[in-house]
Amino acid sequence: MTKPDFKPTLEPGTNERQTTRAVLPDAVYRNMLSRLSKSRKPAPIRHLFPYESEPGMISMLAGKPNTSVFPFVSLTVKVRPSNPRIDDSLTDLSLDGQDLAVALQYGATSGTPELVKWLTDLTCHLHGSQLDEGWRVTIGSGSQDLLYKTFAALVEVDDIIFLESPTYPGVLPIVQALGCNIIEIPSDADGIDPASMASLLTDWPKDKPYPKLLYTIPFGSNPSGSTTTLSRRLEVLRLAREYNFLILEDDPYYHLYYGDIPQPPSYFALERKVNGELGRVLRFDSFSKIVAGGLRLGWATGPEVLVNAIDLHGSSSNLQASGMSQMLVLRLLRHWGIEGFLAHTAMCAQFYREKRDLFEQYLQKHLKGVAEWSPPNASMFYWIKLRLPASMKAENIKNDEGDSLLFLTEKAIPGGVLVLPGECAYADGRRICNVRLSFSLLDEGSMDEGLRRLGSLLRE
Ligand SMILES: Cc1ncc(COP(=O)(O)O)c(C=O)c1O
Repeated sequence: MTKPDFKPTLEPGTNERQTTRAVLPDAVYRNMLSRLSKSRKPAPIRHLFPYESEPGMISMLAGKPNTSVFPFVSLTVKVRPSNPRIDDSLTDLSLDGQDLAVALQYGATSGTPELVKWLTDLTCHLHGSQLDEGWRVTIGSGSQDLLYKTFAALVEVDDIIFLESPTYPGVLPIVQALGCNIIEIPSDADGIDPASMASLLTDWPKDKPYPKLLYTIPFGSNPSGSTTTLSRRLEVLRLAREYNFLILEDDPYYHLYYGDIPQPPSYFALERKVNGELGRVLRFDSFSKIVAGGLRLGWATGPEVLVNAIDLHGSSSNLQASGMSQMLVLRLLRHWGIEGFLAHTAMCAQFYREKRDLFEQYLQKHLKGVAEWSPPNASMFYWIKLRLPASMKAENIKNDEGDSLLFLTEKAIPGGVLVLPGECAYADGRRICNVRLSFSLLDEGSMDEGLRRLGSLLRE
């Protein structure tokens, strides 16, 4: 199998000129902050942390414990090479001395500075960003943590927000609890559909405030598996600029793109490639799918005012992401360098591409005629429209195509196959015949048997 080209590119006809561009003024973001965020005070001790590293400073500031009383003296992990198919030798990476002391101690809310710098350099490398454009990086306990803090910083009761639909089930409890008005923007195999957003915005009532933000998952969306095409991204960005909303780009599958066409640029990169001001995009990245979910590390990148608001929340909640996780990842990244990191993520993408191909084979074998789907180009999900029997139609809903939740509880679970019912991915909780199938963990035998079971239940 040929290795896909993972380098982000532009389709012909797009303006590729890189210029120093006007950055949105801070006041734009300040006006968007929620009352909660505006009223949050800096944590008194953390606020003074930066002075500790001033040359000659003797600090009696923080109640930091002395790490010499901690039981850990050194830690060694064995790591696989970036591409274990070419070379299967393991390398020992050790954490001790100053690195271990940093890992074990309280640290900055925005993250271990060297790791923040590494991720900042990675952003410049991957998205073409420059350092003087008013953005910065902060590290959180997974992107979930950062998403939670971001929505809390931006969204007020009665605010209007756009959500790509279907959407990541994990984001719904966050936004629903905030009491905002959620407008679901449909997506299909080409990702979010800006045309429906445009028609809503064109006919927007004069007395109603425009939406504050759009939340979208541009690569291998969870649960739809779809990747938003470049032309749709350009239109989404155009609308964001015209109607003054932010784009929250939740991108944990950015590195798991394996499509046949070159990877489209992120919104964060696109902003720089298309004329107009910068600063509409807040990105969320994660180590969960490429290094380890259990380390709980993600990072947010975007306008400083917004990232400061995230950190202010952090400084009064979890204080910081795990220092041990950060140092472990930093040690790995020092060992890899950016090239090694990208070789590793390319290997991950290739792994999922092969899984996708195998899964597709068994979908064709068992579900043809009883379901419809489009193969994903990134991540680990298939969004499958089941042709459900009449008995699986939700009560009181006329002309519906069936209820996958009913199918799950009455047929699939008793039949020994577990799928995610589509209703979990809609803010309005609509009953729908789609299900999300995750193929990441299945070996070939389980794919064959799992899909055989599903097919025969649908044919019953
Ligand atoms: C779209 C999306 N966003 C965020 C997350 C949470 O990721 P993390 O483990 O970085 O918190 C997930 C996890 O599955 C996800 O699919």
